Amino acid sequence: MSGAQPDLPGRVAGVLAGRHAFVTGGGSGIGAAIALAFAGAGAAVTIVGRRPQPLERLAAQSERIRTGILDVGDEAMTEDVMHAAAQAAGAIDILIANAGIAETLPIGKADLAFWRRTMTTNLDGAYISMRTALPGMVASGWGRIVAIASVAGQKGVARGTAYCASKHGLIGLCRALAEETLTTGVTVNALCPGFVRTPIVERSVDNIVSKTGRSPEEALNALAGMNPNGRLVEPEEVAAAALYLCGADTGSVTGQTLQIAGGHV
Ligand code: NAI
Repeated sequence: MSGAQPDLPGRVAGVLAGRHAFVTGGGSGIGAAIALAFAGAGAAVTIVGRRPQPLERLAAQSERIRTGILDVGDEAMTEDVMHAAAQAAGAIDILIANAGIAETLPIGKADLAFWRRTMTTNLDGAYISMRTALPGMVASGWGRIVAIASVAGQKGVARGTAYCASKHGLIGLCRALAEETLTTGVTVNALCPGFVRTPIVERSVDNIVSKTGRSPEEALNALAGMNPNGRLVEPEEVAAAALYLCGADTGSVTGQTLQIAGGHV
């Protein structure tokens, strides 16, 4: 290596400048942090979700961020919006398959509709967006697919049969697609956060408070305490890992899972 190499942040920005990143569920939480990080690194970013308001609020923070409305479980809608995004901002180079729901119930209280809702969003949604984005990536010889899975994709969590199954499935999807794309210039990886400070965790806090009578602070501490280091992960910490996977010199990192959980879970 010559001493003239620019520093790593400079090279990451160099790789991302002008790339088109498509982030599902990008209006809030982890998706929003990733969208801002990628826009900050010079990428054109399309954020999509079901609700216009959070998407538009985020897009107002950067002229590099566009929005689109879709339900990730709706195949035709997702394909239409992804094709329109590619027309508007160039072929999609980076897909962040982030949209997800984290509803939990003991299996005896859940029904097939509950199971299907989780699978449709967390697993079908990722599959549809990956399948739609892939041909453009293969054609250009460069692509990055990052799925936001969970440590619940690597271990069982009580009351989480549907969620855990969907996230285990998502990791399997990434591993298989990574094998299928080994020589294409496309990489496929999964990030596995622990408990992250986002609206999903806020809803879990509300749930614990209403079911147990504990205070919001106690409920939050209980969730933070489930991460090995005893604190919540910040969405920006997940975004930093996504930036790494899409940045310089990562073409040999594919089919991997990376925990961002404050320790090994
Ligand atoms: P969030 O609720 O802020 O983000 C989820 C986003 O997905 C929202 O913007 C929501 O509107 C969107 N979404 C949900 N269903 C959708 C659908 N059918 N079509 C389009 N968009 C849809 O919460 P967070 O935490 O940022 O979640 C992002 C991802 O991170 C999820 O996949 C979640 O499972 C995963 N995750 C979150 C953890 C946490 O502790 N917050 C831990 C591990 C993984």
